[in-house]
Amino acid sequence: MNSTADVAVIGGSGLYSLLDDAHEAQLDTPYGPPSDPITVGEVAGRRVAFLPRHGRDHRHPPHLIPYRANLWALRALGARQILAPCAVGGLRPDLGAGTFVLPDQLIDRTSGRERTYVDSGAVHVNFADPYCPAGRDTVRATAGATGLALIPTGTMVVVDGPRFSTRAESRWYAAAGGTVINMTGAPEAALARELALCYTTVALVTDLDAGVEGEHGVTQEEVFRVFKDNTELMRTLLLAAIANLPTERTCPCPNTLDGLHPGYALP
Ligand code: ADE
Repeated sequence: MNSTADVAVIGGSGLYSLLDDAHEAQLDTPYGPPSDPITVGEVAGRRVAFLPRHGRDHRHPPHLIPYRANLWALRALGARQILAPCAVGGLRPDLGAGTFVLPDQLIDRTSGRERTYVDSGAVHVNFADPYCPAGRDTVRATAGATGLALIPTGTMVVVDGPRFSTRAESRWYAAAGGTVINMTGAPEAALARELALCYTTVALVTDLDAGVEGEHGVTQEEVFRVFKDNTELMRTLLLAAIANLPTERTCPCPNTLDGLHPGYALP
């Protein structure tokens, strides 16, 4: 059985499987086990690993997801390009449920999460652009080619949760430049960068956040329902994007650690 992969997908709320004909890889890491066993299979000739971020039974809430173990395990399988679909709330009235957004920026409002692999020494990775430019280009072009409307940029605010935001918090995030909001985009993106991985978030708006005028406040029921209703569109986009991802990494991501002294040996 071939358990190597070069691309990985970390599935968000409602996306608990992706691959047909896959087998399970059980991995442990220095940071404990990942959220769930990882399934590994093939898509368009690429070796692909799939990991449901919350576990397939959604047992890990956003603030307790083993983010470090997840990224470490995917890299250990060989994955270098990560696609990270997630559910988000819209912070603008024009970003209603069912809108696909390709964030290019992130505001991390989380705290208390294990957010780095480096607990000693000086390793300060460049995070000015938190997402892989090649991954974003690929997803944007793939959406265009398949006729899927997708907002090509946006700033994703990441909050701890598990509760949703108050109206005042939500308005504040929008005033600060946030486009969409979620609970899992950090520290996942930063950990991917510390492992020199290409990381691309693909966001699906499941609700309008509480501060958007006239909204009733977010419910868990609508988040899960809207994601489920759009799972097939997300799956189709991801599978087509995998086929289109470049096989050579010419983006800056692989060189992230050049000149730095990581306090760990990369898997
Ligand atoms: N995930 C989906 N919708 C959300 C919202 N409104 N706030 C935070 N995380 C979310």
